[in-house]
Amino acid sequence: MFSSNTYIKRRKALMENLQSGLILFPGNSNVGMNYKDNVYHFRQDSNFLYFFGIDQEDLAAVIDLDDKTSTIYGDELSVEYVVWMGPQKTIKEKAKASGIENTLPYAEIEKKISKAVSQGRKIHFLPPYRSTNILKLSAWLNKSVKEIEKGYSLELIQAVIDQRSYKSMEEIDQMEQALATSKEMHEVAMKNAKEGIKESDLTGMVEWKATAGGGGLAYPIILTVNGQTLHNHYHGNTLKKGQMVLGDFGAETEMHYAGDITRTFPVDKKFTQKQKDIYSIVLKAEKDCIQALKPGVLYKDLHLKAARIILEGVSALGLVKGNLDDALEQGAYGLFFPHGLGHMIGLDVHDMEDLGENHVGYGPGLERSTQFGLKSLRLARKLEEGFVLTVEPGIYFIPELIQKWKEEKMYPEYINYDKLTEYLAFGGIRIEDNCLITKEGQRTLGPYIPKEIEEIENIRD
Ligand code: GLY
Ligand code: MN
Ligand code: MN
Repeated sequence: MFSSNTYIKRRKALMENLQSGLILFPGNSNVGMNYKDNVYHFRQDSNFLYFFGIDQEDLAAVIDLDDKTSTIYGDELSVEYVVWMGPQKTIKEKAKASGIENTLPYAEIEKKISKAVSQGRKIHFLPPYRSTNILKLSAWLNKSVKEIEKGYSLELIQAVIDQRSYKSMEEIDQMEQALATSKEMHEVAMKNAKEGIKESDLTGMVEWKATAGGGGLAYPIILTVNGQTLHNHYHGNTLKKGQMVLGDFGAETEMHYAGDITRTFPVDKKFTQKQKDIYSIVLKAEKDCIQALKPGVLYKDLHLKAARIILEGVSALGLVKGNLDDALEQGAYGLFFPHGLGHMIGLDVHDMEDLGENHVGYGPGLERSTQFGLKSLRLARKLEEGFVLTVEPGIYFIPELIQKWKEEKMYPEYINYDKLTEYLAFGGIRIEDNCLITKEGQRTLGPYIPKEIEEIENIRD
C-alpha cells in the first residue's frame, strides 16, 4: 500500500467532487472456477484499491458524503480460517493503514444502506462488472438486477475518471516497476524463441518472470505465431522457420499497477526482407506517434496519423493504390489496422474500462466513430499532462477479413487484392509502449525494450 495519506487525500478529493449521499464500493470476492473452493486468482477491484488500498476479498466500503466518514465493512477472520489460510492482519489494522478508523461487521452495511434509502438519500455506485457484486447491490438496495445494471451514478463515474486519469509520481513509479518486469518477460521470450520450441514453452518462461516480479500478469499472455488474431490466447503451436512471434504481455506490480508491452520478432535469428518491410512501417508509426504525444493533442488524430503512415507504407509495397487521403478518410486502412492506437493504463491495463470506454476515452463533445477500425479506438480525447497511455499500432494480414472484403468488393479502388495474396500467411506485427504525457511532450516509461531490427537480431545471437 501507499502511505495512508495518499488514500486520505484521494477520498477527500472525491468527497469534494460530489454533493451528498453515500458512495458505495463493493470490493471483490473470490470466484470459483469449477467449484466454490477452487478459485480464480483473487483480484481486488481497482476503484477499491485506488480509494482504500486494501487488497482483501469480501470487504465493502462506504463514504458518507454528508458526515464525511469512511467505513470499511468486513468480518474478522476466524481461527478456523487461519488454520487453512495462515495468519492475517486484522481488518482494523488494514483500515488503519488506509487512514480509516471505522470498521464494522459486513452485515452492518445493509442496515446503513436501507436507512439511507428510507431517508431518501442518494446512493452512488459505479457500474458493477461482476455478477456477485450486482447481486449484492441488488440485495442491499432492494432493486432488480436490471435496475442495478442501469442505476450507476454518472456523477461518481465522472469524479473517479477526473482523479484516476492523472497519475501521481508514486503511481508512475509503480508503472516503472511493472515495466521493468515486463522487459524481463519480453527478453526471455526473444532470447529463447527458436524453430521447434512451442509457444507454450515461451509462455511458461514469460509467466515465470511475471511471477518472480512479485505481482504476476496484468492480463492473459498473448504469445503467438498467429499475430493476425488480435487477442490470441492459444499457445499450442510449434515455432517454424519463416514465422514471426507476436508477444503482447506485461506484468502487474504487487499493488496492481500494469505494464502493457508488445514486441514482434522472427523465429529465425534474422528478419526476412518481407518481414523487415512490414516491421519498419509499424515501427515508424509507433515512434512517430510517440514523438507527437503532448498535452492538447487529440489522440484520435494520432490514431489517424498512424493509419496514414501504415497506408503510405503498404502503398509503397504495392498493397494499396489510389488517393491515400481518401483511403484514410473512408477507413480502407482498417483492413490492415483494425484496432485502436491505444488506451489509458494504470491500475487496469485498459484503465477504468469498467466505468465505460466512452466516458474514459471520449468525454463530452467527441462522438465515437462507427467505421470499422476507428470504432475500436478506446482513447480519442485531448491529451493532458499526467495521462499514461499505450501507443500500439500494428499491421495484420487476416485471411478471413481479406477474403470477406474482396468478396464484398470493399474499396477496390484502394486495395490491391491480387498483391495481398502474397501476404496471406504473413501473420501480424504490433509494437506497443507505455507513455506518460509530460508538460512538454512525453516520457516513455520503463527501461528500454529492444525494438529496432538490429537490436532484436542481436538479442537472438
Ligand atoms: N494487451 C491488450 C492491449 O494491448 O490492449
Ligand atoms: Mn498489449
Ligand atoms: Mn494495450
